[in-house]
Amino acid sequence: MVRESEIQKAVEILRAGGLVALPTETVYGLGADATNREAVAKVFAVKGRPPAHPLIVHIGGAEWLDEWAREIPDAARRLAAKFWPGPLTLILKRSDRVIDHVTGGQDTVGLRVPDQADTLRIIRELGHPIAAPSANRFGRVSPTSADHVREDLGDEIDFIVDGGPCRVGIESTIVDMSCEKPEILRLGAITEAEVAEVVGRPVPVREKPASVRAPGTLESHYAPEASVLLAEPSEMARIAGEFIRQNKRVVMITRPVPGCGAPSEDENVPIVLPVPPSDEAFARNLYALLREADRREADVILVSPPVAEAGLGRAVADRLRRAAAPRSGIEQ
Ligand code: TXA
Ligand code: MG
Repeated sequence: MVRESEIQKAVEILRAGGLVALPTETVYGLGADATNREAVAKVFAVKGRPPAHPLIVHIGGAEWLDEWAREIPDAARRLAAKFWPGPLTLILKRSDRVIDHVTGGQDTVGLRVPDQADTLRIIRELGHPIAAPSANRFGRVSPTSADHVREDLGDEIDFIVDGGPCRVGIESTIVDMSCEKPEILRLGAITEAEVAEVVGRPVPVREKPASVRAPGTLESHYAPEASVLLAEPSEMARIAGEFIRQNKRVVMITRPVPGCGAPSEDENVPIVLPVPPSDEAFARNLYALLREADRREADVILVSPPVAEAGLGRAVADRLRRAAAPRSGIEQ
């Protein structure tokens, strides 16, 4: 439970142009007053993020939409009414209140109402939207607890609001509603089918990044330090054996594998971090598991994707594929 005094402290720091890490239902955000140029510039500096990559702007409710976006299609309003507060970001044409610093100069803005009571109160008390990317360094996995934020950015931000572990655990679904043909730019807990049902026609998932302006769509985003390999549980022992023969430290993130025991510090026994049974729990634990593998100094992480690539399982599989993608040319 976040104390009232902490909420007030967060609001004061944001008002003064400081940076506050905020819990949301998806992942922790690194928040700044979205109307304050210097504060937004600090977000980019602390994250090490290139300035052309736009930030998501978190608003206090769907009733704030018309102040921060323009030419809002009916279907976008329906999506907002159905899923906000919740893990859905809408890309819309921006209003003239949105500053260039937030959008990387683009004519569109990403808006979302987070489903976390403390953060919603902070936004509403501030009376301004909060621009917040995930509170990790650029290219690393997102934080799903206050401790993760501390590990990544602790010394460089003014305050962390500790709302406990994030309920969803992976970033919001992003739907581009700014053009004629809506598209899903990033998969999350709101599924393609749910979006299509409200929009009233298919809304495809964009397969190839249209531009490097959406870092969530960069091939090797969401990567831990170790290299990541996807494998079925039945292949794990064999693949792990090959790496161990090369003196690599292996961590397996998987459903139970016969013959592999409990986590061990022995160099020659791969460490098994068990995958929770449901896709919801897998999503909630995914980034913590990848961080745990790094903490155990894995050279290689072997991970089994969700069984069914539907709904949240598909979003988890998408994050895993990106974590496993080649990293050359990507800023870490
Ligand atoms: O769940 C989330 O969305 C979390 C929490 C903190 O709200 N935020 C998050 O932010 O994941 P970030 O900055 O790590 O990822 C934001 C994504 C990026 O891929 C960015 O390019 C895209 O949103 N985005 C933001 N504004 C955009 C715009 N105008 N056009 C296209 N993509 C945009
Ligand atoms: Mg991010």
